[in-house]
Amino acid sequence: MKTGRGDEHPARKTRAQLAVLISGNGSNLQSFIDACAADELDADIAIVLSNRPDAFGLERARQANIPAAVIDHRDYPSREAFDQAMLDALAPFEIDLVILAGFMRILTPVFINAYRGRLLNIHPSLLPKYPGLNTHQRAIEADEFAAGATVHFVTNELDGGPPVIQAQESIRKGVNKDDAKSLAARVLKREHLIYPMAVKWFVEGRLKLGPKHAMLDGESLGKKGFSAWLFCGKD
Ligand code: GRF
Repeated sequence: MKTGRGDEHPARKTRAQLAVLISGNGSNLQSFIDACAADELDADIAIVLSNRPDAFGLERARQANIPAAVIDHRDYPSREAFDQAMLDALAPFEIDLVILAGFMRILTPVFINAYRGRLLNIHPSLLPKYPGLNTHQRAIEADEFAAGATVHFVTNELDGGPPVIQAQESIRKGVNKDDAKSLAARVLKREHLIYPMAVKWFVEGRLKLGPKHAMLDGESLGKKGFSAWLFCGKD
C-alpha cells in the first residue's frame, strides 16, 4: 500500500485497510467485498460501520466474515458526538481509506478533517448537478437527457468535494420512459463499476486529493473527474 504519507508502519499489513460506512442495502459494499475477494483490489475491508441496525449491508459483512458494528446516530446528542464515536470505532484499525457507500448521515468536520484526503463518497448524480436527495426524480423532472453517478473526495462542502470519476446513464423517454426507480437501478450498476475503480487507483497510490481537484498520476482530474462513459458502454 503506497499512501505517500510516509508513515507506513513496518509491521503493518501490506494490503490497504478499508473502512466502509453504510446505512442500507450495501450493494456498493458488496462490490468491494467481491473486488477484495477476487484480488482485484489489493485491500481488505477491516471494518463495516452502519448507523442503522437494520441495514442489510450488515448481513453482507457477516456473510463475508468482515467485522461490522452499528453506531446508531440516535444514541448521540449531536452530530459531532456521533462522528467522534465513529472515529473511536475506527481507531483500533490502521485505516488507509474510508469509503462512504450509501451512508446517509451528514458528517461534520470532526470526522471529515480526521480523514481528509482519505475519504470517498459516491453520489447518484452527475455532480455538480443535483447534490442532496431525490437526484433521479429531479433529473427526470428537469427533462435531462442523462443522469449518472460521481465518486468524489469528501470535504466539508456537502456533495461538493473534488470529483474523481463519473459514469453517465441515458434517461429513457417516450413509451418506456424512466421513472426514478428504473433509472436508479441502471445508475446503481454503473456505481458498482466506477467505485471499485476509484478505490483501486487510491490503494495503488495513484489517486490523491490535490489543492483544488482530485489528482490521478499527478494530473488534475478537473471539475468533473475522470469520465467513465466510454468504457461503461451499453447494457
Ligand atoms: C447508491 O445509489 C448511492 O449512490 C447512494 O445510496 C445508494 C446506496 O446503495 N448514496 P447501496 O446501499 O450501496 O446498495
